[in-house]
Amino acid sequence: MQREVHPDIERVMYTAEQIQGRVKIAAEWLDERYKNCKEPPLAVSVLKGSVMFFCDLLREMKTPVQLDFMTISSYGNSSESSGMPRIVMDLSAPLEGRDVLLVEDIIDTGYTLVKLRDLLKGRGAKSFTVVALLDKPSRRKVDIKADYSCFTIENEFIVGYGLDYAQQYRNLPYIGVLKHSVYEK
Ligand code: IMP
Ligand code: MG
Repeated sequence: MQREVHPDIERVMYTAEQIQGRVKIAAEWLDERYKNCKEPPLAVSVLKGSVMFFCDLLREMKTPVQLDFMTISSYGNSSESSGMPRIVMDLSAPLEGRDVLLVEDIIDTGYTLVKLRDLLKGRGAKSFTVVALLDKPSRRKVDIKADYSCFTIENEFIVGYGLDYAQQYRNLPYIGVLKHSVYEK
């Protein structure tokens, strides 16, 4: 049964099928990047937004990987980044000598990625690769980008496929533009 589009969604930006198509290509890119690695890379999901992407991406990859999780919060309950991302839950594995694959949902201002890069690079990783589902380059406040992004988008606030507004809409199977009326209430 086709699920109806959520009433708070202005329009669907990417369908579940379009997302899966791009995820597959990202997985191929990563397999190529890691083809000479002797030890499994450590794939790090930046929770909660990257969770759907992380699971789908790793299942498409042929390279054996190990998993770890980190929770970072930058928003509170608004649609504007606070500029001061906070580590809520840290990794459980040491990074010394590891090939680290950081999996992000979206790079917006870039503050979160700068914070994560500085923190994790300081822990002695052998390599550090960032893959993002989405990139909003027009919103950037700091000069940083992912090594690979599946989609580059304009300045619109989107939800679904892991992305939220006030912790809602994460389990929508598509990525959609949220109606302005929802966050201007
Ligand atoms: P940054 O630190 O501004 O780059 O923001 C990164 C985080 O803000 C992302 O990991 C998301 O969790 C969140 N974010 C940025 N843009 C959006 C959006 O359009 N929808 C939902 N969350 C977003
Ligand atoms: Mg995030």
